[in-house]
Amino acid sequence: MESYKNPYRPGAGTKPLVIAGREFEIEKARSLLKSVKFGSPQRSLMLYGLRGVGKTVLLNEIERISEDEGYISEHLEMSENDDFRRVIAKAVRKCLLKVDKVENLKDKAVNALSILKAFTLVIPDGPELKIDVEAAVGLGDSGDLDTDLVDLFVALGEAAKEGKKYICFFIDEVQYLSEQAMSGLIASSHRISQKTLPIVFICAGLPQVAALSGDAKSYAERLFDFIPIGPLAKGADELALIGPVAQFSVEYEDGAKNKILEEAKGYPYFIQEFGCYAWNEAANTVINEREVTESNKKAIEALDRSFFKVRMDRATSAEKKFMKAMSSLGKGPYKSADVASKLNKKLQSIGPVRATLISKGFVFSPQHGEVDFTVPLYDEYIRRNFDLSEFK
Ligand SMILES: Nc1ncnc2c1ncn2[C@@H]1O[C@H](COP(=O)(O)OP(=O)(O)OP(=O)(O)O)[C@@H](O)[C@H]1O
Ligand SMILES: [Mg+2]
Repeated sequence: MESYKNPYRPGAGTKPLVIAGREFEIEKARSLLKSVKFGSPQRSLMLYGLRGVGKTVLLNEIERISEDEGYISEHLEMSENDDFRRVIAKAVRKCLLKVDKVENLKDKAVNALSILKAFTLVIPDGPELKIDVEAAVGLGDSGDLDTDLVDLFVALGEAAKEGKKYICFFIDEVQYLSEQAMSGLIASSHRISQKTLPIVFICAGLPQVAALSGDAKSYAERLFDFIPIGPLAKGADELALIGPVAQFSVEYEDGAKNKILEEAKGYPYFIQEFGCYAWNEAANTVINEREVTESNKKAIEALDRSFFKVRMDRATSAEKKFMKAMSSLGKGPYKSADVASKLNKKLQSIGPVRATLISKGFVFSPQHGEVDFTVPLYDEYIRRNFDLSEFK
């Protein structure tokens, strides 16, 4: 069928025609936003899950709801080399100017601006933020990111409360925050709810954000609500596939539909890709099994050339070898000790490569002593495309 009418939306954060199976998460966020507006403190949200599972789509949908609820919203997307102090300084300034008009700043807003100024002064080559107030002394200026963040967010929250406004920060790719920035965010969220200030954080990231252990974990879980975002459940995956075409009176034969659902294993990004190729392959309004056999093949080839490959291209040769050793073991999660033995190395000596793979977002540790890929079906991609005979 005509590709320009294609109703599927494969892509990073691209809104699908039908957001399938996320009612629970959306309701949870809606109720959090309503509660904070009403004045009752709540835990902020931390959505975590594999690549392409639909975290950004969910974040955008919640942002839309927050705007309907009258929130001032700020959307931040972190990347590998971002300095959180810089990013958050700009965002806080924008929020403050939405709380009060610049010519009409109330006391708490002026106070927050002076703390923001102090906060930016300790950034080496800090951003030029036009702030016509004296920098605060003793608040936000210690140079310790975690405590300075708390001072800054509390001051912003007090300014918002004074101006009868509420603010929601959306922070995507949160796994790229430094440990200090993350602990500052968690501590800020704690202070904000103790003081019933109108700020909410809704964060999304790869599973490494939930990989804290022991005390740090129980502390973080008391302050943030960690919500795993998994593949779509049975039924929801079907809705994600047939919902978009139904709007055009197009349907799938059962065999065709099942072939895609089996291949996509509930992962929204793959459903969009396979659906997209099926639509382009189909001759008329009932998509059949033969067409899907062909379109699935094309979709997998395209994924191998782009989605999967770009990640391999960013890896060093030692990192590639590590990931190949993982795949040679079959399906994950993998014991680090087994990966080490495939590489003919001692467990301790694979630690550094494992650490860079985690910080680059390629793998994560589902529990102590284990690793797995952050991209679904990555093991299959590697087995399809690389010679793994050296790991026999
Ligand atoms: N609930 C859903 N129903 C149908 N399609 C969805 C759903 N959620 C996401 N998608 C589709 O899946 C793809 C990936 O979504 P998204 O970019 O939000 O994933 P992500 O988890 O943020 O991935 P990444 O970790 O790479 O940033 C997009 O093409 C989007 O349209
Ligand atoms: Mg995303």
